[in-house]
Amino acid sequence: MTKPRLYSGMQPSADSLQIGNYIGALMQWRDLQQAYDAYFSVVDLHALTQPNDPAELRQKTRRTAAQYIAAGIEPSRSTLYVQSHVRAHAELAWILSTITGFGEAGRMTQFKDKSQRYGSDATSVGLFTYPVLMAADILLYQTDIVPVGDDQKQHVELTRDLAERFNSRYGDTFRVPMPVIQQDTARIYDLQNPTAKMSKSAESDAGVLWLLDDPSVSAKKVMRAVTDSEGSVRYDREAKPGVSNLLVIYAALTGRQIPAIEDEYAGRGYGDFKKGLAEVVVGEFGPVRERALELLADPAELDRVLATNAARADEVADATLAAVYDKVGLLRRV
Ligand code: AMP
Ligand code: TRP
Repeated sequence: MTKPRLYSGMQPSADSLQIGNYIGALMQWRDLQQAYDAYFSVVDLHALTQPNDPAELRQKTRRTAAQYIAAGIEPSRSTLYVQSHVRAHAELAWILSTITGFGEAGRMTQFKDKSQRYGSDATSVGLFTYPVLMAADILLYQTDIVPVGDDQKQHVELTRDLAERFNSRYGDTFRVPMPVIQQDTARIYDLQNPTAKMSKSAESDAGVLWLLDDPSVSAKKVMRAVTDSEGSVRYDREAKPGVSNLLVIYAALTGRQIPAIEDEYAGRGYGDFKKGLAEVVVGEFGPVRERALELLADPAELDRVLATNAARADEVADATLAAVYDKVGLLRRV
Protein backbone atom coordinates (compact mmCIF):
# COMPACT_ATOMS: atom_id res chain seq x y z
CA MET A 1 0.00 0.00 0.00
CA THR A 2 1.35 3.43 -0.83
CA LYS A 3 1.52 5.92 1.97
CA PRO A 4 -0.24 9.27 1.71
CA ARG A 5 2.08 12.11 0.92
CA LEU A 6 3.14 14.95 3.19
CA TYR A 7 4.93 18.19 2.35
CA SER A 8 6.39 20.86 4.58
CA GLY A 9 9.31 23.23 4.69
CA MET A 10 11.02 26.03 6.53
CA GLN A 11 13.01 29.02 5.42
CA PRO A 12 16.75 29.00 6.11
CA SER A 13 16.40 32.32 7.90
CA ALA A 14 18.84 31.81 10.80
CA ASP A 15 21.98 29.87 11.70
CA SER A 16 20.05 27.96 14.32
CA LEU A 17 16.45 26.92 14.67
CA GLN A 18 14.70 27.84 17.93
CA ILE A 19 12.74 25.65 20.29
CA GLY A 20 9.44 26.79 18.73
CA ASN A 21 10.54 25.36 15.37
CA TYR A 22 11.58 22.20 17.15
CA ILE A 23 8.37 21.66 19.14
CA GLY A 24 5.97 23.24 16.63
CA ALA A 25 7.40 21.66 13.49
CA LEU A 26 10.34 19.25 13.70
CA MET A 27 8.98 16.96 16.43
CA GLN A 28 5.76 16.55 14.47
CA TRP A 29 7.58 16.00 11.20
CA ARG A 30 9.70 13.34 12.88
CA ASP A 31 6.58 11.45 14.00
CA LEU A 32 4.66 11.93 10.77
CA GLN A 33 7.46 10.62 8.55
CA GLN A 34 6.63 7.08 9.70
CA ALA A 35 3.09 7.03 8.35
CA TYR A 36 3.57 9.39 5.39
CA ASP A 37 5.72 9.58 2.32
CA ALA A 38 7.20 12.84 3.53
CA TYR A 39 8.93 15.66 1.67
CA PHE A 40 10.73 18.29 3.73
CA SER A 41 12.42 21.18 2.00
CA VAL A 42 14.71 23.99 3.01
CA VAL A 43 12.98 26.74 1.06
CA ASP A 44 15.91 28.88 0.01
CA LEU A 45 14.06 30.45 -2.94
CA HIS A 46 11.52 31.80 -0.48
CA ALA A 47 14.33 33.17 1.68
CA LEU A 48 15.38 35.43 -1.22
CA THR A 49 12.31 37.57 -0.49
CA GLN A 50 14.10 38.80 2.65
CA PRO A 51 17.20 41.02 2.68
CA ASN A 52 19.91 38.67 1.46
CA ASP A 53 23.59 37.98 2.04
CA PRO A 54 24.70 35.28 -0.42
CA ALA A 55 27.40 33.64 1.71
CA GLU A 56 25.11 33.62 4.71
CA LEU A 57 22.22 32.14 2.76
CA ARG A 58 24.41 29.23 1.67
CA GLN A 59 25.53 28.64 5.24
CA LYS A 60 22.04 28.91 6.72
CA THR A 61 20.72 26.49 4.10
CA ARG A 62 23.26 23.83 5.10
CA ARG A 63 22.73 24.50 8.77
CA THR A 64 18.97 24.23 8.51
CA ALA A 65 19.24 20.93 6.63
CA ALA A 66 21.70 19.60 9.24
CA GLN A 67 19.28 20.49 12.02
CA TYR A 68 16.41 18.69 10.29
CA ILE A 69 18.54 15.55 10.21
CA ALA A 70 19.89 16.01 13.74
CA ALA A 71 16.33 16.37 15.03
CA GLY A 72 15.40 13.02 13.56
CA ILE A 73 14.28 13.55 9.97
CA GLU A 74 15.75 10.52 8.25
CA PRO A 75 17.09 11.36 4.79
CA SER A 76 16.85 7.72 3.76
CA ARG A 77 13.17 7.54 4.64
CA SER A 78 11.94 11.08 3.95
CA THR A 79 12.90 13.24 0.99
CA LEU A 80 14.83 16.07 2.63
CA TYR A 81 16.14 18.51 0.07
CA VAL A 82 16.92 22.09 -0.86
CA GLN A 83 14.15 23.78 -2.84
CA SER A 84 16.42 25.47 -5.39
CA HIS A 85 17.98 22.11 -6.29
CA VAL A 86 14.72 21.11 -7.92
CA ARG A 87 14.16 23.37 -10.92
CA ALA A 88 10.51 22.47 -11.30
CA HIS A 89 9.53 24.68 -8.34
CA ALA A 90 10.31 27.94 -10.08
CA GLU A 91 8.82 26.68 -13.34
CA LEU A 92 5.49 25.58 -11.87
CA ALA A 93 5.32 28.81 -9.86
CA TRP A 94 5.33 30.71 -13.16
CA ILE A 95 2.47 28.66 -14.58
CA LEU A 96 0.45 29.02 -11.38
CA SER A 97 1.04 32.76 -11.30
CA THR A 98 -0.85 32.99 -14.59
CA ILE A 99 -4.01 31.60 -12.97
CA THR A 100 -3.68 33.58 -9.72
CA GLY A 101 -5.74 36.73 -9.39
CA PHE A 102 -3.90 39.95 -8.60
CA GLY A 103 -6.51 40.75 -5.97
CA GLU A 104 -6.41 37.22 -4.65
CA ALA A 105 -2.66 37.43 -4.02
CA GLY A 106 -3.10 40.91 -2.58
CA ARG A 107 -5.44 39.56 0.10
CA MET A 108 -2.75 37.39 1.67
CA THR A 109 -2.34 38.77 5.19
CA GLN A 110 1.35 37.91 5.41
CA PHE A 111 1.98 39.95 2.26
CA LYS A 112 -0.12 42.82 3.57
CA ASP A 113 1.76 42.85 6.89
CA LYS A 114 5.22 42.59 5.38
CA SER A 115 4.66 45.05 2.54
CA GLN A 116 3.25 47.57 4.98
CA ARG A 117 6.33 47.18 7.15
CA TYR A 118 8.80 47.44 4.24
CA GLY A 119 7.06 50.20 2.26
CA SER A 120 6.18 49.87 -1.40
CA ASP A 121 9.64 50.55 -2.83
CA ALA A 122 11.24 47.87 -0.66
CA THR A 123 8.44 45.40 -1.37
CA SER A 124 9.45 43.07 -4.20
CA VAL A 125 7.24 41.29 -6.68
CA GLY A 126 8.80 38.12 -5.26
CA LEU A 127 7.26 38.85 -1.89
CA PHE A 128 3.91 39.25 -3.62
CA THR A 129 4.19 35.91 -5.43
CA TYR A 130 5.68 34.09 -2.42
CA PRO A 131 2.43 32.15 -1.80
CA VAL A 132 2.31 31.05 -5.44
CA LEU A 133 5.80 29.54 -5.11
CA MET A 134 4.62 27.83 -1.95
CA ALA A 135 1.64 26.43 -3.87
CA ALA A 136 4.05 25.10 -6.49
CA ASP A 137 6.12 23.39 -3.75
CA ILE A 138 3.07 21.57 -2.49
CA LEU A 139 1.33 20.74 -5.77
CA LEU A 140 4.40 19.35 -7.54
CA TYR A 141 4.37 16.36 -5.19
CA GLN A 142 0.66 15.50 -5.35
CA THR A 143 0.56 16.20 -1.64
CA ASP A 144 -2.18 14.96 0.69
CA ILE A 145 -1.35 16.90 3.85
CA VAL A 146 0.61 20.03 4.70
CA PRO A 147 1.48 20.45 8.39
CA VAL A 148 2.10 24.14 9.06
CA GLY A 149 1.74 26.83 11.70
CA ASP A 150 -1.43 28.84 11.89
CA ASP A 151 0.11 31.77 9.98
CA GLN A 152 0.54 29.61 6.86
CA LYS A 153 -3.04 28.37 6.74
CA GLN A 154 -4.15 31.06 4.30
CA HIS A 155 -1.35 30.09 1.92
CA VAL A 156 -2.47 26.46 1.95
CA GLU A 157 -6.05 27.60 1.28
CA LEU A 158 -4.77 29.53 -1.74
CA THR A 159 -2.91 26.39 -2.83
CA ARG A 160 -6.17 24.44 -2.69
CA ASP A 161 -7.98 27.13 -4.70
CA LEU A 162 -5.27 27.13 -7.37
CA ALA A 163 -5.28 23.33 -7.60
CA GLU A 164 -9.06 23.24 -8.01
CA ARG A 165 -9.01 26.07 -10.54
CA PHE A 166 -6.32 24.40 -12.61
CA ASN A 167 -8.09 21.04 -12.46
CA SER A 168 -11.40 22.49 -13.58
CA ARG A 169 -9.84 24.58 -16.32
CA TYR A 170 -7.44 22.00 -17.76
CA GLY A 171 -8.60 18.65 -16.43
CA ASP A 172 -7.62 16.69 -13.37
CA THR A 173 -3.92 17.29 -12.71
CA PHE A 174 -3.26 18.13 -9.06
CA ARG A 175 -4.24 16.44 -5.84
CA VAL A 176 -5.94 19.03 -3.61
CA PRO A 177 -3.97 19.13 -0.33
CA MET A 178 -5.32 19.48 3.22
CA PRO A 179 -3.67 21.81 5.74
CA VAL A 180 -2.91 20.29 9.13
CA ILE A 181 -2.68 23.19 11.50
CA GLN A 182 -0.41 22.85 14.47
CA GLN A 183 -2.14 22.74 17.86
CA ASP A 184 -2.34 25.94 19.85
CA THR A 185 -0.75 24.09 22.75
CA ALA A 186 2.38 23.63 20.63
CA ARG A 187 2.87 27.37 20.34
CA ILE A 188 5.99 28.52 22.18
CA TYR A 189 6.44 32.06 23.46
CA ASP A 190 9.50 34.22 24.05
CA LEU A 191 11.07 33.53 27.46
CA GLN A 192 11.54 37.23 28.17
CA ASN A 193 8.31 38.39 26.61
CA PRO A 194 5.92 35.47 27.08
CA THR A 195 2.99 36.99 25.24
CA ALA A 196 4.98 37.21 21.97
CA LYS A 197 5.59 34.10 19.85
CA MET A 198 9.19 32.92 20.01
CA SER A 199 10.79 33.70 16.70
CA LYS A 200 14.08 33.47 14.84
CA SER A 201 13.89 37.22 14.37
CA ALA A 202 13.30 38.16 18.02
CA GLU A 203 14.87 41.40 19.22
CA SER A 204 16.53 39.99 22.30
CA ASP A 205 18.57 36.81 22.32
CA ALA A 206 17.79 36.09 25.99
CA GLY A 207 14.22 35.10 25.19
CA VAL A 208 15.08 32.59 22.47
CA LEU A 209 16.23 29.02 23.07
CA TRP A 210 18.37 28.17 20.07
CA LEU A 211 18.78 24.53 19.16
CA LEU A 212 22.51 25.08 18.66
CA ASP A 213 23.12 27.11 21.84
CA ASP A 214 25.80 25.76 24.11
CA PRO A 215 24.00 23.70 26.82
CA SER A 216 25.17 26.07 29.56
CA VAL A 217 23.65 28.99 27.66
CA SER A 218 20.31 27.18 27.26
CA ALA A 219 20.26 26.41 30.98
CA LYS A 220 20.96 30.04 31.84
CA LYS A 221 18.18 31.27 29.59
CA VAL A 222 15.70 28.93 31.28
CA MET A 223 16.83 30.03 34.76
CA ARG A 224 16.34 33.67 33.76
CA ALA A 225 12.97 33.23 32.06
CA VAL A 226 10.31 35.76 33.10
CA THR A 227 7.74 34.33 35.53
CA ASP A 228 5.51 36.13 38.07
CA SER A 229 5.36 36.82 41.78
CA GLU A 230 2.80 34.18 42.74
CA GLY A 231 5.36 31.44 43.22
CA SER A 232 3.22 28.44 42.30
CA VAL A 233 3.82 26.24 39.27
CA ARG A 234 0.39 26.37 37.70
CA TYR A 235 -0.90 26.64 34.13
CA ASP A 236 -2.90 29.80 33.47
CA ARG A 237 -2.18 31.31 30.08
CA GLU A 238 -3.87 34.62 30.90
CA ALA A 239 -2.60 35.32 34.40
CA LYS A 240 0.70 33.44 34.20
CA PRO A 241 2.00 33.51 30.62
CA GLY A 242 5.65 32.96 31.59
CA VAL A 243 5.11 29.91 33.82
CA SER A 244 2.51 28.50 31.42
CA ASN A 245 4.96 28.73 28.54
CA LEU A 246 7.61 26.89 30.56
CA LEU A 247 5.05 24.20 31.42
CA VAL A 248 4.19 23.78 27.75
CA ILE A 249 7.86 23.36 26.86
CA TYR A 250 8.35 20.90 29.71
CA ALA A 251 5.33 18.85 28.65
CA ALA A 252 6.22 18.88 24.95
CA LEU A 253 9.78 17.71 25.49
CA THR A 254 8.95 15.00 28.03
CA GLY A 255 5.66 13.80 26.58
CA ARG A 256 4.09 14.30 30.02
CA GLN A 257 0.77 15.97 30.83
CA ILE A 258 0.83 19.45 32.34
CA PRO A 259 -1.16 18.50 35.50
CA ALA A 260 1.39 15.80 36.31
CA ILE A 261 4.17 18.36 36.11
CA GLU A 262 2.19 20.83 38.26
CA ASP A 263 1.79 18.06 40.86
CA GLU A 264 5.47 17.24 40.83
CA TYR A 265 6.38 20.85 41.57
CA ALA A 266 3.50 21.64 43.95
CA GLY A 267 4.78 23.55 46.96
CA ARG A 268 8.20 24.03 45.43
CA GLY A 269 9.51 27.30 44.07
CA TYR A 270 10.20 28.48 40.53
CA GLY A 271 13.91 27.86 41.08
CA ASP A 272 13.37 24.11 41.39
CA PHE A 273 10.98 24.06 38.47
CA LYS A 274 13.38 25.94 36.23
CA LYS A 275 16.25 23.71 37.25
CA GLY A 276 14.15 20.72 36.27
CA LEU A 277 13.23 22.28 32.95
CA ALA A 278 16.82 23.30 32.24
CA GLU A 279 17.82 19.65 32.64
CA VAL A 280 15.07 18.56 30.27
CA VAL A 281 16.07 21.15 27.65
CA VAL A 282 19.77 20.35 27.87
CA GLY A 283 19.03 16.61 27.79
CA GLU A 284 16.95 16.98 24.64
CA PHE A 285 19.03 19.57 22.79
CA GLY A 286 22.50 18.29 23.74
CA PRO A 287 22.48 15.26 21.43
CA VAL A 288 20.68 17.16 18.66
CA ARG A 289 23.28 19.89 18.78
CA GLU A 290 26.16 17.41 18.76
CA ARG A 291 24.73 15.56 15.78
CA ALA A 292 24.16 18.82 13.88
CA LEU A 293 27.73 19.96 14.52
CA GLU A 294 29.01 16.57 13.37
CA LEU A 295 27.06 16.83 10.13
CA LEU A 296 28.29 20.38 9.59
CA ALA A 297 31.89 19.30 10.11
CA ASP A 298 31.61 17.31 6.86
CA PRO A 299 29.77 19.61 4.43
CA ALA A 300 30.75 17.51 1.39
CA GLU A 301 28.94 14.49 2.79
CA LEU A 302 25.92 16.60 3.76
CA ASP A 303 25.82 18.04 0.24
CA ARG A 304 25.88 14.52 -1.18
CA VAL A 305 22.90 13.49 0.95
CA LEU A 306 21.02 16.59 -0.20
CA ALA A 307 21.87 15.87 -3.84
CA THR A 308 20.60 12.28 -3.61
CA ASN A 309 17.37 13.53 -2.08
CA ALA A 310 16.99 16.29 -4.66
CA ALA A 311 17.30 13.67 -7.40
CA ARG A 312 14.47 11.72 -5.79
CA ALA A 313 12.37 14.88 -5.57
CA ASP A 314 13.17 15.71 -9.22
CA GLU A 315 11.54 12.52 -10.43
CA VAL A 316 8.18 13.24 -8.86
CA ALA A 317 8.30 16.97 -9.59
CA ASP A 318 9.30 16.54 -13.24
CA ALA A 319 6.42 14.16 -13.88
CA THR A 320 3.91 16.67 -12.50
CA LEU A 321 5.49 19.57 -14.38
CA ALA A 322 5.47 17.67 -17.68
CA ALA A 323 1.76 16.96 -17.28
CA VAL A 324 1.12 20.62 -16.52
CA TYR A 325 3.09 21.82 -19.56
CA ASP A 326 1.06 19.50 -21.76
CA LYS A 327 -2.25 20.52 -20.24
CA VAL A 328 -1.68 24.25 -20.73
CA GLY A 329 -0.59 23.74 -24.32
CA LEU A 330 3.15 24.37 -24.26
CA LEU A 331 4.71 22.73 -27.31
CA ARG A 332 6.75 19.67 -26.42
CA ARG A 333 10.44 19.90 -27.12
CA VAL A 334 11.47 16.79 -29.02
P1 AMP B 1 9.54 30.19 10.87
O1 AMP B 1 10.81 29.82 10.22
O2 AMP B 1 9.68 31.08 12.03
O3 AMP B 1 8.53 30.67 9.86
O4 AMP B 1 8.93 28.85 11.46
C1 AMP B 1 8.77 27.68 10.70
C2 AMP B 1 7.75 26.79 11.38
O5 AMP B 1 8.15 26.51 12.74
C3 AMP B 1 6.36 27.43 11.52
O6 AMP B 1 5.55 27.20 10.42
C4 AMP B 1 5.81 26.75 12.76
O7 AMP B 1 5.27 25.50 12.42
C5 AMP B 1 7.04 26.52 13.61
N1 AMP B 1 7.22 27.59 14.62
C6 AMP B 1 7.97 28.71 14.51
N2 AMP B 1 7.94 29.42 15.65
C7 AMP B 1 7.16 28.76 16.51
C8 AMP B 1 6.73 28.98 17.86
N3 AMP B 1 7.12 30.04 18.55
N4 AMP B 1 5.92 28.06 18.42
C9 AMP B 1 5.54 26.97 17.75
N5 AMP B 1 5.89 26.70 16.48
C10 AMP B 1 6.70 27.58 15.85
N1 TRP C 1 6.00 29.70 3.89
C1 TRP C 1 6.36 28.70 4.88
C2 TRP C 1 6.76 29.38 6.17
O1 TRP C 1 7.20 30.49 6.17
C3 TRP C 1 7.49 27.84 4.36
C4 TRP C 1 7.07 27.02 3.17
C5 TRP C 1 7.46 27.21 1.88
C6 TRP C 1 6.24 25.89 3.20
N2 TRP C 1 6.90 26.27 1.10
C7 TRP C 1 6.14 25.45 1.85
C8 TRP C 1 5.56 25.22 4.22
C9 TRP C 1 5.35 24.35 1.51
C10 TRP C 1 4.76 24.11 3.86
C11 TRP C 1 4.67 23.70 2.53
O2 TRP C 1 6.72 28.75 7.22
